[in-house]
This record gives sequence, C-alpha cells and structure tokens, in this order.
Amino acid sequence: MRIAIAGSTGTVGKLVHSIATERGHDVVALARSNGHDLEHASLPPSVLDRVDTIVDVSGIQTLSRHRSRRFFESVSANLQQAGTAAGVGHLVALSIVGIDGVDAAYYGGKLAHERAVQRGALPHTLLRAAQFHEFAEQTLVRGKMGPITVVPAARVRPIAAREVAEHLVTLAEGEPVGRARDLTGPRDELLIDMVRALLDARGIRRTTIEMRLPGSFGRAMSSGRLRGHANAERGTVTFAEWLAAQS
Ligand SMILES: NC(=O)c1ccc[n+]([C@@H]2O[C@H](COP(=O)([O-])OP(=O)(O)OC[C@H]3O[C@@H](n4cnc5c(N)ncnc54)[C@H](OP(=O)(O)O)[C@@H]3O)[C@@H](O)[C@H]2O)c1
Repeated sequence: MRIAIAGSTGTVGKLVHSIATERGHDVVALARSNGHDLEHASLPPSVLDRVDTIVDVSGIQTLSRHRSRRFFESVSANLQQAGTAAGVGHLVALSIVGIDGVDAAYYGGKLAHERAVQRGALPHTLLRAAQFHEFAEQTLVRGKMGPITVVPAARVRPIAAREVAEHLVTLAEGEPVGRARDLTGPRDELLIDMVRALLDARGIRRTTIEMRLPGSFGRAMSSGRLRGHANAERGTVTFAEWLAAQS
C-alpha cells in the first residue's frame, strides 16, 4: 500500500513511519520539516498521487482552544481537499480518549478535529487512544518553570506510542470503520508519578509540583475521565516496563 503520514516526524508519527516501512508499505511523509506546512499552505493533490490511505497524527503543543481548533480545522480541511482530489480511499485519524464535552483548551481542538474527520468526504477511521507513556517526557519539557517543573494533576491509563502506532498501521491496512474501539494502556497511573519515575531513571534531581489546572480541561485530567471506557482495547506494555526499556 501507499500510506501518507501527516505528522510523520512526531512522537507517534515517526513510529507509524517506521512500522509502515517495516511492513513493506510506501510512505509519503508530511510534516513541516519535510516541506509540507499543512496548516498554512494547500497540499498539492499530486503529493498524494497513488496514496491509498492518509494517517493523520499531526498536532501542536498549545493550551489555547482557539489555537488548537484553528490548527486541527485547517489541517483537516487541507487533507480532505487534497485527499478527495487525489482519490484517496481512507483517512485514519488519531484522537484522545475521554474528551467528550471538554470543548476547552487543547481538547476543544481535538473535538473540532473529530468533527472534521466525521463530516468530511473521505471514508474514515477515527481512533481515540490514551496518553502515551512518552507524555511524561512531553510534560517534563512543557512544564519547566525555571528550577521547577509543574505537572498537571492527571489520572491516566497510558500506553506506549509504539503500540498505538502498530494499531494505526493495522487500521490503515483495513477498510474504513468510522469510530474504532478506543485504545488504552494496561494500568492506571498518576502523571506526577510518571514524571518523577522518569527523572529518577535519568538520575536528574528536580523539584516537581503537581497542580490542578482550572476549568473543564483541568477537571477532565484530574478526574480520571481521560482513562477512557473500561471496554477499550488494552495495550500490554506498562509504564514501568517501557521506562526500563529506554535505558
Ligand atoms: N501525546 C499523547 O499522549 C497523545 C495521546 C493520544 C492522542 N494524541 C494525538 O496524536 C497526535 C500526535 O501526537 P504526538 O504527541 O505524536 O505529536 P508531536 O510529537 O507533537 O508531533 C506532531 C507532528 O505534527 C507535525 N506538525 C506540526 N505542525 C505542522 C504543520 N503546520 N504542518 C505539518 N505538520 C505539522 C510535526 O512535525 P513538524 O514540526 O516537522 O511540522 C510532528 O510531526 C496529536 O493529534 C495528538 O492530539 C497524542
């Protein structure tokens, strides 16, 4: 198959890229670092020539609902337009478990992303996955405030990005199914514990402070809602196993 990956250089995107290649697929890499700004410039349909499936794992880091919505709506419209013109048969998009009704901060953009996928002309598969184990690292970088790191209070059921990437490639190889069964990790974790374990594993001494973020975004994170439904498919690699394998 020929698979285009929007966000091919990201945490999950680079794994989708390598797994698709290992499985013998041709890959078209779409990211700004490959010369494709999907938010600000129309993608020429010729880039998607002979592409069977687009996997959309693009994203930005922001806590602004407005910024997040603008990004996901622009990128989605761009992929729909170019994909339809090029005759692409399937769009696989990645969203996040438990975000229903959280039209705030970053999740407002993810809900807009889901609506754009579901209303778009391209036959689709929409997968909601839990936070990645790699989210601990992303949190560490984003939460740095001088000598301390602020970590949002969050109860999650995290999964290795590699397991999500494998699942996405399998979905890309199949027929469009609409909303796929949610995918979460094997056990519950507190984000603060994940960040502290990551620091310990690296031998870094740093003060971490857990803080509940305000509003519905903060409530969704701290309440455990982001763990997703109990009947979700479960990955097998725990955070501790993933961390041990990093060194
Ligand atoms: N991280 C999590 O725990 C998690 C969990 C579940 C779902 N998700 C969802 O999965 C997706 C990917 O997450 P991630 O953590 O892998 O993201 P990430 O590491 O931040 O990667 C984002 C990707 O999007 C690309 N990108 C950003 N702006 C772009 C633009 N204007 N045009 C084209 N490409 C652009 C980036 O490449 P360039 O910078 O080179 O453009 C990069 O390849 C997101 O939609 C996120 O909401 C994430």
